Amino acid sequence: MAKIKTKWICQNCGYETAGYLGKCPECGTWGSFTEEMQALTKPQMLLTLQGILNESKPSLLNDIAIGKEVRISTNISEFDRILGGGLVQGSLVLIAGDPGIGKSTILLQTGGELCKNNKKVLYISAEESASQIKLRAERLNINSDKLYIYPQINMENIRTEIDNINPDVVVVDSIQAIYSGTITSSAGSVSQIRECCNILMQIAKNKNITVIIIGHVTKDGSIAGPKVLEHMVDTVIYFEGDKYKSYRILRSMKNRFGNTSEVGIFEMNSDGLTCVTNPNELFLNERSQESIPGSAIVVTNEGTRPLLVEIQALVGTTPYPTPRRVTNGVDTSRLLQILAVLEKRVGLNLSKQDVYVNITGGIEVDDPGADLGIALAVATCARDVVVDSQTVIIGEIGLSGEVHPVQNIDKRINEAVLSGFKKAIVPYSNKVTNDKIEIIKVKRLIDAISACIYPVGK
Ligand SMILES: Nc1ncnc2c1ncn2[C@@H]1O[C@H](COP(=O)(O)OP(=O)(O)O)[C@@H](O)[C@H]1O
Ligand SMILES: [Mg+2]
Repeated sequence: MAKIKTKWICQNCGYETAGYLGKCPECGTWGSFTEEMQALTKPQMLLTLQGILNESKPSLLNDIAIGKEVRISTNISEFDRILGGGLVQGSLVLIAGDPGIGKSTILLQTGGELCKNNKKVLYISAEESASQIKLRAERLNINSDKLYIYPQINMENIRTEIDNINPDVVVVDSIQAIYSGTITSSAGSVSQIRECCNILMQIAKNKNITVIIIGHVTKDGSIAGPKVLEHMVDTVIYFEGDKYKSYRILRSMKNRFGNTSEVGIFEMNSDGLTCVTNPNELFLNERSQESIPGSAIVVTNEGTRPLLVEIQALVGTTPYPTPRRVTNGVDTSRLLQILAVLEKRVGLNLSKQDVYVNITGGIEVDDPGADLGIALAVATCARDVVVDSQTVIIGEIGLSGEVHPVQNIDKRINEAVLSGFKKAIVPYSNKVTNDKIEIIKVKRLIDAISACIYPVGK
């Protein structure tokens, strides 16, 4: 008989070793290792659960029949779109976000909408009482005879009720608050989260039930618990947003059944989250119609959706020996790179100036196509000139000051035309077919600056 192996697991980050360690080499926590029995290895476990190991004979790719995935629409268009067209039956979805961002709200709303489609939903609340949920449901106007609310933290009881009720969709709010009696460690620990997720995965795959799990995030914004949680689920969605503003963004990070890096935009008000169908209004409506120094409009690409956002820059003499570079919504190291290019290739020296860059509306922009806009916002503020307020700027900047082409240029230009912009600065090697807008192609950053910068008031 095979020897039973044990392993030591860091309860903070899930790091595994063969023997006891005082300090975790991964996360640096002291005294966080506990000994656990080694079950199946990770890949074996995943494959067995997904029923892949059972059909172990090789077959020709041509001969494999496709099991058609069945999708359930949530009736919430932005949510459906992130999921790739609705919830896939028998899939496991993880939604993570800061406290108070609206995870429970959106899933209760989703539950209500699914019931309208004649689906049975079981909402397991491990954090709030049934009456608290009822209060929220009243506020959100959710009233359904097919929505079961079950305040419970014990995984075995949850499993029994899932067997009894046999729902189409199960919502678990949240994975950090439930525990399984088979493991001695407390709820929220690495082994508990892993075990509970395992059980939920078995339920999802064996009974063909869609399971939506809510997960908390740690201080640095990653999902609390073991990394294996993200490997086990089919879809990982982050819920982001500025708590002090009303809109929220759902972003898909992993999706076995659809496109990732999709975003869905919602607005939070007293009767719940509503879809924002025209986000450009939301991000641009506070903008003044006049051209002002330090402002540039860019068209970024979020997943398959182009978004118009305003970049604002402020440049001023610094009182400190080392000037400050403060960004909000843009990566600071990217700004540093753009400033270096501005200095070397355009001759704009900002070594005695503080530079602040802000994306209005609080959205995060990762798209390198916003580089040129950032450079122009900084340059106009530093020289007290303006970019025409009817111009959009698209382009990635290379270290030698050249403007690199961007993806999806036609979609971006169409979006600018729809929002009434008259002129677009685009990379030289991008091919644009739209003739409803004046297109200015630029090869280098300096060309862009001479093409669209005017004195104030002109
Ligand atoms: N009466 C209310 N009117 C408007 N918004 C509310 C009201 N009650 C709660 N909210 C909003 O709902 C949020 C809490 O949402 P919730 O779904 O419980 O978050 P999570 O589950 O992510 O912690 C609050 O931060 C607040 O913005
Ligand atoms: Mg909650």
